[in-house]
Amino acid sequence: MKLIISNHKMNLTKGEVEQYVKDLEEIESDKNRLVFCPSFPYIPYFTGKNYKLGSQNVAERTMGALTGEVSIEQLKSLGVEYSIVGHSERRNLLKEENETIRKKVVLCLENGIYPILCIGEKEEELHCKEQVLKEEIDSVFENLEYAENVIIAYEPIWAIGTGKTPTNSEIDNSITWIKQYIKDRYRVDCPVLYGGSVNEKNIDTLSEIEVLDGYLIGGTSLKVSLLNQIIKKLEG
Ligand code: PGA
Repeated sequence: MKLIISNHKMNLTKGEVEQYVKDLEEIESDKNRLVFCPSFPYIPYFTGKNYKLGSQNVAERTMGALTGEVSIEQLKSLGVEYSIVGHSERRNLLKEENETIRKKVVLCLENGIYPILCIGEKEEELHCKEQVLKEEIDSVFENLEYAENVIIAYEPIWAIGTGKTPTNSEIDNSITWIKQYIKDRYRVDCPVLYGGSVNEKNIDTLSEIEVLDGYLIGGTSLKVSLLNQIIKKLEG
């Protein structure tokens, strides 16, 4: 089973989402699990039985006065089961720090929501990639309860939305390293996904990477027809 997470980011308007959700009715995925992370206002539109719901973020505090944020209780009440945490766009553009990301991961785990923790290096950090990944992992995993429920998304930042992807052996090495590091240091096995310019053309190649547990898909997930091509290829 592979996890196929669609991250819509800040895309699609009401009418487009209505059509998107209708088109999703045609999608079949027996072997893999589909998760959709729409923009917050559209979460209630995703009522299909053939997929799960995720959010793109969650507030670091549980309730009360935090203008513009969405709480974990609100997400749970909408049937959300997964939450992306620490996406590089939030880390870099919105200056989200490791400390905040840890709080969000803890909150998810305490509330039975699977956090999808995004980690990955910038292009200029390629020479010290493992150090970057270590810091992003350690700042969250140190003394973390229920750590086995964390899903890691390895997303090289230079591959996000650029059409560039690492080679299969580079991805394989990174994923294998992440899994081994977490197992050795924290004694847990976490699934690790790959994200960054996954599309209907490169999925055949990417699917040869056996250590991968799934994919986090941004741009290509905005068109149900393209996403469906990916799903069909992964169904085999
Ligand atoms: P992309 O985005 O597939 O458009 O590269 C991936 C992501 O940021 O989650």
